[in-house]
Amino acid sequence: MSVDIQGLSIAIGGVPIISGVDLQIADHSRVGLIGASGSGKSMIARAMMGLLPMASTCVGSIRYDGEDIIGMNESELADLRGRYVSMVFQNPASALNPVLTVMQQVTLPLALHFDLSMAQRKARAAAMLAKVGLDSSISSRFPHELSGGQQQRVGIATALVSAPKLIIADEPTTSLDSITQRQIVRLLVSLVDEAGASMLFITHDFSVLAHATDDCYVLDAGHIVESGSTRVLLKRPCTPQAQQLVHAARELTLHPDSDEKTVWRHERHERHEKER
Ligand SMILES: Nc1ncnc2c1ncn2[C@@H]1O[C@H](COP(=O)(O)OP(=O)(O)O)[C@@H](O)[C@H]1O
Ligand SMILES: [Mg+2]
Repeated sequence: MSVDIQGLSIAIGGVPIISGVDLQIADHSRVGLIGASGSGKSMIARAMMGLLPMASTCVGSIRYDGEDIIGMNESELADLRGRYVSMVFQNPASALNPVLTVMQQVTLPLALHFDLSMAQRKARAAAMLAKVGLDSSISSRFPHELSGGQQQRVGIATALVSAPKLIIADEPTTSLDSITQRQIVRLLVSLVDEAGASMLFITHDFSVLAHATDDCYVLDAGHIVESGSTRVLLKRPCTPQAQQLVHAARELTLHPDSDEKTVWRHERHERHEKER
């Protein structure tokens, strides 16, 4: 599904949060949105899901395959959410419903959007759980009985089970350790590509972005300050805001002598472990 956001401005209680944002995602492509904490990334994601806070005002357009969702009523938005557009959240522990088993979580979008029997829903959910690398024995467990990585795999299965056309991942790996982080990024990317969906990948980490996206936008205090190829941005960031993010990523997660290619430290660590 293609996304075309034009002149998106959002204010909450009269305070501008997002100002004149233009952002495009071509059909089948993965685009990144990067920016410091508080820059407004999640607010854009919420606008794209039709989930803005009550006190907000919003102007501009958000078009999915040409159809503007701004101004849609709640029932139209509910039809869109979880069916055509799904979200993977930052903190799977709080995104999952604590009183639902894994099977109940994953079958829920199917129950809401499709006319399927319980057996059909369970079969689809089981196939999706296998795709995200979870054993069927996990189906009857509750979120608190899972590790952070397993919880996020359930989050991904729940987001993808209805075969949505657009996935918005809002810092999906921030709460995970670095090795799990990389596994989850790879899993998400491969499943999104396999499903032929488009993706907006939100993060504040350029090294994660480099693995997940081809193009990206840099957000600063509600404004897009830079956009283009992720590779080029990573190599030659133009604005001070992008430079700061790239330098932070290099210091934390990139191989110290490589600015050509993003080699993650734990990748070397894994190789080393394998060789031993
Ligand atoms: N419900 C809300 N009411 C008022 N202000 C909010 C609300 N949610 C977020 N904000 C403000 O909007 C700005 C952008 O927040 P957010 O989109 O969460 O940033 P990011 O995801 O980039 O960290 C912040 O200044 C934040 O304080
Ligand atoms: Mg956020």
